[in-house]
Amino acid sequence: MKVKKAVIPAAGLGTRMLPISKSVPKEMLAIVDKPAIQYLVEEAVNSGITDILIISNRGKESLENHFDYSPEYSESLRRAGREDDLIKLNAITEMANVSYIRQNNARGLGHAVSLARSFVGNEPFAVMYGDDIIFSKTPVTKQLTDIYEEFGLAVAGVRHVDAESISKYCSLKAEQVRENVYHCTDMIEKPTRDQVFTDLAILGRVVLTPEIFNILDKTPPGAKGEIQLTDAMAVLARTKGMKACVFEGERFDVGNKLSYIESNVYMGLRHPETKEGFKEYILKIAKELENDTSR
Ligand code: UTP
Repeated sequence: MKVKKAVIPAAGLGTRMLPISKSVPKEMLAIVDKPAIQYLVEEAVNSGITDILIISNRGKESLENHFDYSPEYSESLRRAGREDDLIKLNAITEMANVSYIRQNNARGLGHAVSLARSFVGNEPFAVMYGDDIIFSKTPVTKQLTDIYEEFGLAVAGVRHVDAESISKYCSLKAEQVRENVYHCTDMIEKPTRDQVFTDLAILGRVVLTPEIFNILDKTPPGAKGEIQLTDAMAVLARTKGMKACVFEGERFDVGNKLSYIESNVYMGLRHPETKEGFKEYILKIAKELENDTSR
């Protein structure tokens, strides 16, 4: 079965990005000229997804406005004869069926995903973490849905991480099937040193099957007192098995200050309107820094 639906949880508080996240959702932070969440929706569409549910909350209305028509801008662009810009602006609204649901209390990623039950129905679906932006040749969601379509099992997007960092993530118990593909039979969120299974950590994207909803209903709060999606996925992995895909791409976490700045450097050096000027600026700064340290 093809994966046609995606859920984007974007209702977290984003406390690591305070104070900006007090008034601007981290998912709406700009990477050059697009909000982070637009890159996610484009990735979904380029992966064959047609229906997207964004989990939003109080204070994140700007997410909904961004994917809606804007009569003011349409009128202004039309009057200025900027038809091409108008077509580009409307394309944001027309690229997918985007709907919204509100999580009225940030009780964790697992709780956010559980709200997607009626949207998902009886189909497999992708979960794209709202603050994880991944630039890649083949969209990461497509890398995962291809594995789902091959094996018919839920798939976790993973990366090898170093021994010191694994305790910040979810470590997978997994055996290699072929290059970049693993079979996963268990996982543990934020493991202590002796609980670590492997250096494979889940990052940013998963494809799930609808069984996850009954499991989530029975999942108690875990790490940080939140209902963790990975605690429910661990049950799925132990009972049915899952696959894991070591994805290709440059990943940025816009919920983390340094990674957010890096995402702008990455895209600023590639965007047609900024790449030349920005490269010159970076080279100038690099030279100044070099002179600074040699002094
Ligand atoms: P994070 O754990 O990175 O988000 O969740 P957070 O809780 O907003 O971050 P900090 O620690 O306070 O800075 C990953 C994704 O899951 C969403 C977030 O919006 C983010 O996109 N999320 C998290 C929800 O939708 N609901 C929640 O209750 C928690």
